[in-house]
Amino acid sequence: MQYNFDEVIPRRNTDSEKWNKYGENILPFWVADMDFQSPQPVIDALQERVSHGIFGYPSDDSLLIESICIRMEYLYQWKVNPQEILFLPGVVTGFNLLVHALTQPGEGVLIQPPVYPPFLFAPHYAKAIQQNAPLILDSKNYYSIDFDLFKKTINDKTKLFLLCNPHNPVGRVFKREELQNMAEICLQNNVFICSDEIHADIIYQGNKHIPIASLSPEIAQKTITLMAPSKTFNIAGLGFSFAIIQNPDLMETVKKARKGLVSSPNVLGLTAALAAYNYGEEWLLQLLSYLQGNWQTLNDFILTTIPNINITSIEGTYLAWLDCRNISVEKSPYEFFLNEAGVAFNDGKIFGSGGEGFIRFNFGCPRSVMLEGLERMQKALVKIGW
Ligand SMILES: Cc1ncc(COP(=O)(O)O)c(C=O)c1O
Repeated sequence: MQYNFDEVIPRRNTDSEKWNKYGENILPFWVADMDFQSPQPVIDALQERVSHGIFGYPSDDSLLIESICIRMEYLYQWKVNPQEILFLPGVVTGFNLLVHALTQPGEGVLIQPPVYPPFLFAPHYAKAIQQNAPLILDSKNYYSIDFDLFKKTINDKTKLFLLCNPHNPVGRVFKREELQNMAEICLQNNVFICSDEIHADIIYQGNKHIPIASLSPEIAQKTITLMAPSKTFNIAGLGFSFAIIQNPDLMETVKKARKGLVSSPNVLGLTAALAAYNYGEEWLLQLLSYLQGNWQTLNDFILTTIPNINITSIEGTYLAWLDCRNISVEKSPYEFFLNEAGVAFNDGKIFGSGGEGFIRFNFGCPRSVMLEGLERMQKALVKIGW
């Protein structure tokens, strides 16, 4: 089946956070969901499940567990057993749960800003300390890890490293050597790794996602991997994600911490996830090719018409990270584009250290909508003499 990602489907009045937050005249390119319909097999499976009409508590011994194990083996040659999977209602819930379960007040949680804002909040919610090892941006607009800094930031308080791979917002898909290095440092220092891999399926040509836990059994014993079909198949509102925990003691600790606080996933989320994983591949391949086209179009537009904005090179995700520090606008670039161009992005400063002066542009939308956003940006800049 051929999917039409160019189709513009109105989302106002559909309880969409992305489309409700700002007024009628603002085009939203912020929160990370896409303006595309999910794969047809997902819609069909949901319709069939809804017509059953009974929506009681879900069980977690479903066919979905088997499907996830097969997927891990097929995509990453990673052997995961059914008892190593824990269903969760969300990835953010997952890493907050882990920070609570694995740190005491005053202990340290390592992160790599600029990073997805809930990473910045999670240590504080648990009264732990946020330890920053910022990523480094080079002159080719490429982010990398400063390993000396990474090592130095870890001290005897550090208990947990929150890894974001693929990295939101900088779009890096970390290479095997980088992952190996980070993991070895964590193992040497007895630091657990919580790896948020929610964007694992949105990877561009020439790159490969590698779950850090798949590198070796020793690394797997110290790692909790968080994944979900939500970004990939645009089903974030259905509340399903999962953790892979191969260390049985760690699994017990997390299950204990979850009690009474974390609910089971949404039953429709389970239905959607199973259909997506079993029958969503054809849609995903077409989506990736469309997103790659959007990325190229966005690059070409900016390079030719707004060259003062630097685009950092991304390897995955549908999030562009635009360095607007060269365009001097009165307020932040985020406020400028919101007020003067009628386009809503995420303000780079909410991603922590190194995010000031940047905006995050979600290009998971029909190309015509993305281009309208870009044209609005350009016009607003022309008006102030750029
Ligand atoms: C890195 C990352 N983790 C987690 C989430 C959200 O996950 P969930 O909706 O499952 O809590 C997002 C959403 O943008 C994200 O980018």
